[in-house]
Amino acid sequence: MKIGIIGNGKMGIGLQDAALEKKLEITLPDTPLRVEEQLSFSDQPDILIDFSHPDNLDKLLSYSLSNQLPLVIGTTGYTKEQLQAIKDHAQHVPVLYSANFSLGIMVMNQLVGQAAALLHDWQIELIEKHHSQKKDAPSGTAEQLLQTIQHVRDLQPVHNWQGKKREEAQIGVHSIRAGSFPGEHEVLFAGPDEVFTIKHEAFSSRIFALGALQAASWLKDRSPGYYKLEDLLINEGV
Ligand SMILES: NC(=O)c1ccc[n+]([C@@H]2O[C@H](COP(=O)([O-])OP(=O)(O)OC[C@H]3O[C@@H](n4cnc5c(N)ncnc54)[C@H](OP(=O)(O)O)[C@@H]3O)[C@@H](O)[C@H]2O)c1
Repeated sequence: MKIGIIGNGKMGIGLQDAALEKKLEITLPDTPLRVEEQLSFSDQPDILIDFSHPDNLDKLLSYSLSNQLPLVIGTTGYTKEQLQAIKDHAQHVPVLYSANFSLGIMVMNQLVGQAAALLHDWQIELIEKHHSQKKDAPSGTAEQLLQTIQHVRDLQPVHNWQGKKREEAQIGVHSIRAGSFPGEHEVLFAGPDEVFTIKHEAFSSRIFALGALQAASWLKDRSPGYYKLEDLLINEGV
């Protein structure tokens, strides 16, 4: 399996290193992403992994469709329309999208959903910390945790409280951008006179790269469809 890696930033480089470590073959686009309208590889990949920027989505989907290549996407910051375009694309090729490729976050997401449902009248705050170069806020993972909470509780997000007092049916979402945090997510549940938190800390971005490579190995044999990390973990029994 030859993996085409889209993205040459922190994650793209990390992915190249992790692939080397796992003795997996990789290939890179011929030209820098910002320059060309279309993706091209002189060494044709069997599958694509994208950790780049939402601006690359059109060329990514177009290359995947015309070459019938499965697609693993880890980029965050997509609009709702772009996320829908990714789902539509999955009618033609297998697609696995995850805003976070860590096993810990997947379990955290499930625990947060359970806690939000059980503690149905507790107040909830969502706090995420990332390095200062991160382009989107809140993080894709925070958005994912928020969706999980909103699935069981009708709460409207307010970012950093915007200088206002908390109202009923709201959830505070806080983004810290400083230093070199690879990614920290915390969900705080506050009841009358008690509080508890569910927290995940990534110590390096290597976990995301290894998770994406594992996803690629699994996805290459799937039928067209839209897959989540949970599908891989359930099927592989991880
Ligand atoms: N799913 C996960 O587990 C996970 C984990 C970590 C990060 N991420 C996400 O993965 C993505 C990449 O993260 P990173 O840390 O590698 O970021 P990064 O170091 O900033 O690299 C971004 C990459 O995207 C390219 N790029 C940036 N702006 C662009 C534009 N306007 N048009 C075309 N290409 C552009 C950059 O090209 P240049 O080199 O030309 O700037 C670079 O190759 C982000 O969306 C991040 O949130 C996901």
